[in-house]
Amino acid sequence: MTQTVPTRHPQTEPGSGLARQISKMAISKFIARQSAKPNGLFGRLIFGRLLNRANTSVNQLVYDSLAHDAKSRLLEIGFGGGDLLFRIARSLSGGRVDGVDVSAEMLANARGKVSRMGLEDTVKLQLGSVDSLPFSEATFDCACSVHTIYFWPDLIAGLRELARVIKPGGRLVLGFSSGTALIEDGYTDRGFRAYSRQQLADACLACGFVADGLATTGRKRGGRIYVYSGTRKCD
Ligand SMILES: C[S@@+](CC[C@H](N)C(=O)[O-])C[C@H]1O[C@@H](n2cnc3c(N)ncnc32)[C@H](O)[C@@H]1O
Repeated sequence: MTQTVPTRHPQTEPGSGLARQISKMAISKFIARQSAKPNGLFGRLIFGRLLNRANTSVNQLVYDSLAHDAKSRLLEIGFGGGDLLFRIARSLSGGRVDGVDVSAEMLANARGKVSRMGLEDTVKLQLGSVDSLPFSEATFDCACSVHTIYFWPDLIAGLRELARVIKPGGRLVLGFSSGTALIEDGYTDRGFRAYSRQQLADACLACGFVADGLATTGRKRGGRIYVYSGTRKCD
């Protein structure tokens, strides 16, 4: 009796170099998609926590650069897992922090935390995108965002919206990976838009912000993470 043995190409056998490379590529693409807009069960249950863990030091640096006070009105764009948002919330007394994110899962997670912590008067969250913010002109003392500029539909449109809603003399703080690091690590092949420090500073200046600082969290995974801070020019 003859037996049929399923044939497999040796190079795509599980565990072979090619199979490993293909699954690595699929995982990288999945993570890139989740970074741009966390979704599904993975987004809701896991990805927010991963973001919080990975971005603690840049969030701390952004927090320090805000230099806000307890009564300030702040805005965070793309709060993700909420590490920075809740750091800010805990520092307020009479102030308020608004958050806007395009991900319904991140919004639901953060809203759950707001009600568990009884922060309804301090934290207000909405679904939305940086290029069309649901706020009136000159609403905020400070606005911030970490690891989101790569996903904005248009950098200039986003910065113009931020300039519109930040008060003259108010502050903008942005945490981001250098363009070189994103290119080297292959993120630009997965849809991330990369900006150099100079490109970002020039774009901010063109949209009404004067740079007053550029800090770095140091070398991480082959590239630097920077924190730009700028002041909204008075008209
Ligand atoms: C890589 S995660 C960073 C999350 C968090 N800021 C952190 O550093 O851990 C990017 C976040 O930005 C959000 N996002 C992407 N594009 C956005 C946009 N156009 N406007 C507002 N939020 C956006 C995503 O949904 C996601 O929560």
